Amino acid sequence: MMRFPFTSRAALTALATVLACGLAAAPAKAEPTVEVLHYWTSGGESKAAGALRREFEAAGGRWIDAPVAGGGGDAASTVLRSRVLAGDPPNAVQLKGPNIRDWAEQGTLASLDEVARAEGWEKTLPPLVLDVMKHEGRFVAVPVNIHRVNWLWINPRVFGKAGLTVPKTWDEFNAAAEKLKAAGITPLAHGSQPWQDTSVFEDVALGIGGADFFRKALVELNEEALTGETMVKVFDQMRKLRGYVDAGFNNRDWNLSTAMLMNGQAAMQIMGDWAKGELLAAGKVPGKDFLCVAVPGQSGYIVNADSFVMFKSGNADRTAGQMLLAKLILGPSFQETFNTLKGSIPARQDMPRDKFDECAVKSMDDLKAAVANNTAVPSMAHEMSVPGAVRGAFLDVVTSHFNSDMTSQEAVRKLAEAIELAK
Ligand code: BGC
Repeated sequence: MMRFPFTSRAALTALATVLACGLAAAPAKAEPTVEVLHYWTSGGESKAAGALRREFEAAGGRWIDAPVAGGGGDAASTVLRSRVLAGDPPNAVQLKGPNIRDWAEQGTLASLDEVARAEGWEKTLPPLVLDVMKHEGRFVAVPVNIHRVNWLWINPRVFGKAGLTVPKTWDEFNAAAEKLKAAGITPLAHGSQPWQDTSVFEDVALGIGGADFFRKALVELNEEALTGETMVKVFDQMRKLRGYVDAGFNNRDWNLSTAMLMNGQAAMQIMGDWAKGELLAAGKVPGKDFLCVAVPGQSGYIVNADSFVMFKSGNADRTAGQMLLAKLILGPSFQETFNTLKGSIPARQDMPRDKFDECAVKSMDDLKAAVANNTAVPSMAHEMSVPGAVRGAFLDVVTSHFNSDMTSQEAVRKLAEAIELAK
């Protein structure tokens, strides 16, 4: 007779249960899993990314973090390309604007139509964002937020001490900067990395030329606009700004510039509202420790929406993870938690405003006004308007102008040439 090595009744029952489960061959429970490639690594950004991870895990998902440091996401794009070439794309990728279309055209992106239908995305997203998320009528990306690029951040203590008021024109800005400089204070906290220089450049372009000029030059790549008087003036102002940064500006990360602003080592920073995420993460209070105002000059709103795409996967757990993540990203609870930490405003248009601070409320109002009077424009520097190669041409010329004694006339000539080659 066969003898079991167990003698107690309880042990036998346990063994029987284990065997029965094995024999019934119950299907394994799916574990929604995603590997997420993103570039949210600064203090404020990682707090916000952490909120997404927590929400995903609380819903039963397994999150594999794949962060790539480097503001603006240029380093992350390089990693993405090499992972795709190696046949090992991450499942969920932070990706924007025309890049979404490019990857969709390669047939690499999963359709999010089912989630979109179930969650009513069409009804909650503004047309401005909606169009970018679709390819040939199908949803291939899910938006997280709307960042405004053209913000000027001011340290009110430093401004108060120097007897300055908020500049509304570039002449007022330059006058304030000269006064600060004469008092031994760095007027502008800035890090010269190509994407940061170009971010400032597009803000100056909007301020000096207005939304129509911005669209002609930085979206439609109209040659007259690229080489005309207004563009020369934009480079003239960039040259002025070069004189307002400190000696250590070269290759400084954007969040270190934000630290200079909050510590009073510099009076101002020109940066998108992810800078507010950084200020909030350090416990700073809007209206008291920092002011958020639109970049000087003509009014308008430079739109930069973060979004995620899901690379097709043959694995059931991964597909389940992708759909769960897409659903959560546009859920009202996540939209509120994430955007209050990130500095942006919700991509959804039906969110209550009460949890958002005065800068976010201003952003919501200004966006509404800009849409109504046609002065909302897509960011070139943050990959919302032109193909990658053309953006690269802008980055090259703007940065080499900022870091040399190139004249404005030379810069516009080089810009037009580089764009022609990149088109
Ligand atoms: C992204 C932001 C990010 C910033 C700095 C922008 O292009 O849209 O989400 O915080 O770059 O890395």
